[in-house]
Amino acid sequence: MARRVVLGVAGGIAAYKACEILRGLREAGHDVTVVPTAASLNFVGATTWEALSGRPVASDVWTRAHDVPHVRLGQEADLVVVAPATADLLARAAQGMADDLLTNTLLTAHGPVLMAPAMHTEMWLHPATQRNVALLRERGIRVLDPAVGRLTGADSGPGRLPEPSAIVAAALDLLRRPAADDLSGLRVLISAGGTREAWDPVRFLGNRSSGIQGVELARTAVSRGAEVTFVAAAMDVAPPAGTAVVHVESAAELHAEMAARSGDNDVVVMAAAVADFRPDEAAGKVKKEGDAGVDLRLEQTVDVLADLVRQRSGATPTIVGFAAETAGDPDRLRELAQAKLARKGCDLLVANDVGDDAVFGQPTNEVLILSAGGGEREVPRASKAEIADAVWDAVLALRS
Ligand code: CTP
Repeated sequence: MARRVVLGVAGGIAAYKACEILRGLREAGHDVTVVPTAASLNFVGATTWEALSGRPVASDVWTRAHDVPHVRLGQEADLVVVAPATADLLARAAQGMADDLLTNTLLTAHGPVLMAPAMHTEMWLHPATQRNVALLRERGIRVLDPAVGRLTGADSGPGRLPEPSAIVAAALDLLRRPAADDLSGLRVLISAGGTREAWDPVRFLGNRSSGIQGVELARTAVSRGAEVTFVAAAMDVAPPAGTAVVHVESAAELHAEMAARSGDNDVVVMAAAVADFRPDEAAGKVKKEGDAGVDLRLEQTVDVLADLVRQRSGATPTIVGFAAETAGDPDRLRELAQAKLARKGCDLLVANDVGDDAVFGQPTNEVLILSAGGGEREVPRASKAEIADAVWDAVLALRS
């Protein structure tokens, strides 16, 4: 089905490569409106864009104002692609500026947005640009990493526009997403957040899980058509809309809620950080006595994931576990994850390296998804929503 794509072109030398991206999108059957910035017209003129797209082209919000293009284009687009995205365009988009037709379109876009940066290495590596990219990714915009290679001058480094064919492939992938109802009919049970183990009525032992990844798993599952029950331990963020939320505090409560519901679901995801140990809870508040310390004796909690695997009959539900490791390098992460997958007996294991403050509370992550059958997929650093989509893709691949 033909979809509506806006192709934003910012003012860099790689603008000429956008002609090939336009052609690729049109060959895939989509309607493309090109929105070049005024600066980019120094590289490729409006006539070229009009001829190649078969549509009128404007850079400012004053052309054909009766059509209100600054609002309509973004609202109606199934996808906005910006290629090349220059340092200036990334900065304006990150700040939410609306000083030309392209930035207005980005502010009114309802659908996914893909940006393919291209600039000189120094500009790409500059902390300002890196911060802008991080901010855009946090908001769910898919910003591709630039390719490494020969730049406009004699030098080389990161900053080249990725291959037009790769940009077209990423665009087509995003176009598939919003229409996808591929989890419809599936009942999904997700645990998220970190459990709290009380050691007296006022104190608890907790962990650093923010719940963001679990919320994104739920959100993406809902948007892909699933019916979601969300078992929420302590989280820094609100539970996702459109799900049935069950609040829990301790590992034991989480275990009870998950065990009671698991059999009614098609897919179970254990994204929660469940305490491995809990103290014996004192009946009253533990008081200070002189300057003596206090001994906490910890006993092991139930391994909820392993228990859900043990309790299920047959292959339903599909069970997905997470692995939080401080591995330090990808090979070690794979080794630890493979051992954990075998130990837990689940169908998929999503492994992440939680060292270096790179995961807890962060908007992005990178993971290795292992399946019990030996399959594996590395998902490079991306927003937690994109990681969630990759997990659902793996679940679907496994179930088909
Ligand atoms: N998990 C669980 N019950 C526990 C501990 C963990 O269900 N008591 C689940 C987590 O939700 C996650 C998976 O098991 O899906 C792996 O958790 P992780 O903390 O990485 O591993 P542990 O089982 O705690 O093993 P270790 O501490 O040895 O790494």
